[in-house]
Amino acid sequence: MNQSAVGSLVPRQAPGSYGLPFVSAIRDRLDFYYFQGEAKYFESRVEKHGSTVLRINVPPGPFMARDPRVVAVLDAKSFPVLFDVDKVEKKNLFTGTYMPSTSLTGGFRVCSYLDPSEPTHTKVKQLLFSLLASRKDAFIPAFRSHFSSLLATVESQLVLGGKSNFNTLNDATSFEFIGDAYFGVLPSASDLGTTGPTKAAKWLIFQLHPLVTLGLPMILEEPLLHTVHLPPILVSGDYKALYKYFYAAATKALDTAEGLGLKRDEACHNLLFATVFNSYGGLKVLLPGILARIAGAGEKFHQRLAAEVRTAVADAGGKVTIEALEKMELTKSAVWEALRLEPPVKFQYGRAKADMNIESHDAVFAVKKGEMLFGYQPCATKDPRVFGSTAREFVGDRFVGEGSKLLQYVYWSNGRETESPSVDNKQCPGKNLVVLVGRLLVVELFLRYDTFTADVGVDLLGTKVEFTGVTKATSGPGA
Ligand code: HEM
Repeated sequence: MNQSAVGSLVPRQAPGSYGLPFVSAIRDRLDFYYFQGEAKYFESRVEKHGSTVLRINVPPGPFMARDPRVVAVLDAKSFPVLFDVDKVEKKNLFTGTYMPSTSLTGGFRVCSYLDPSEPTHTKVKQLLFSLLASRKDAFIPAFRSHFSSLLATVESQLVLGGKSNFNTLNDATSFEFIGDAYFGVLPSASDLGTTGPTKAAKWLIFQLHPLVTLGLPMILEEPLLHTVHLPPILVSGDYKALYKYFYAAATKALDTAEGLGLKRDEACHNLLFATVFNSYGGLKVLLPGILARIAGAGEKFHQRLAAEVRTAVADAGGKVTIEALEKMELTKSAVWEALRLEPPVKFQYGRAKADMNIESHDAVFAVKKGEMLFGYQPCATKDPRVFGSTAREFVGDRFVGEGSKLLQYVYWSNGRETESPSVDNKQCPGKNLVVLVGRLLVVELFLRYDTFTADVGVDLLGTKVEFTGVTKATSGPGA
């Protein structure tokens, strides 16, 4: 059905039912975590109701979320309603239908939980834009230095044991990289020593435990992770240690914050959150995800990437520059394709500000003011009506040339890839940095190796990757 034909349809109620209060929400939670799994949970309901806009319960449900009922938007056409802050309110719903205690963030509601209509949202987002702009020349050298040491470690681990776990190395390296890149102060050189990543991971778990499974028996996980909040006091020592690092390392950014009208402590809690939750949490998932997809694409694809990367770097006098990266069409495309298939942040929420209609490809649905809208992004970005019969496959050159027209359907940043974050929207302010870092990983790999192999599995928040072999570069600047 074409666009205007859908627009002229009479709005109807979204199908699906929430079932019995309480009981059905718990039953659905068990489906989500244990009986069906995340993707199947959504896909089976879309199939059952013959609609990509439908009413369902989302986890965690009782007792952490007051109301698990949502209208799910699960196709490429309806999903972007979640980006439209004229239509949806984005207050206190960063993690969905529950909100972690603000005692985990110094008593403040940090930027991710603020609606753009709140004045502090503008100030904090502005602070982050100015921090990232002020450090833009630090990103490439910091990434290259930290990740070339990571790859050197991979090589020695391969020699010793034939395997190297990328996630473990990435957890330590990304934490150092991000502290170095944003503030020019290595966390390991502060009082944190090497404890930063562990403290960060613990603090992240205290916020995300309602949404994860550790692979333990259901009987343990349900009461422990999915029913009540873990007490914030158990992580307050770790948080204080992280805060101390930020307060000392981010002096310049905190001065800027005061100039923007923010108090130093509120700004510091926000910088900690943006760095440790948004950035570090993001990189923990993003880089293994990209690596896994590139590994799976095989040697022929690796040859194409290596040729492109090495030519662009050689043309730039042997340096990895922004201009050289811009010329790498295939590298860019491969990173976007990984972000499309596996968006690191899969759930998005927004509360309807007024009665409205939402269009899917085939129908129009009426939604009432105050209803919670929810998107499971992998369904939207694997929509076959947009990406065709290969929607579920990794097509590394999908976005090259004419293919770049499809970038408007890449949503990982909580906005279209063709749009930009601003103080007036909720799109990720780290958008350009994230894509840059993804490309830098590919560049580092193919300056160093002709090809590599890896085993891919499942990790707590995303993908687990273990290198099993690398073939050193036989030509180009890295050989
Ligand atoms: C918001 C994804 C890295 C800072 C978001 C949102 C998504 C996202 C999906 C919107 C959440 C929502 O409102 O529903 C990611 C991913 C990243 C990443 C996948 C990395 C792989 C970063 C980085 C920064 C950052 C490097 C550093 C500044 C933020 C902030 C927000 C946000 C502050 C809230 C924006 C606002 O309130 O307007 N991010 N992000 N993120 N992200 Fe990122």
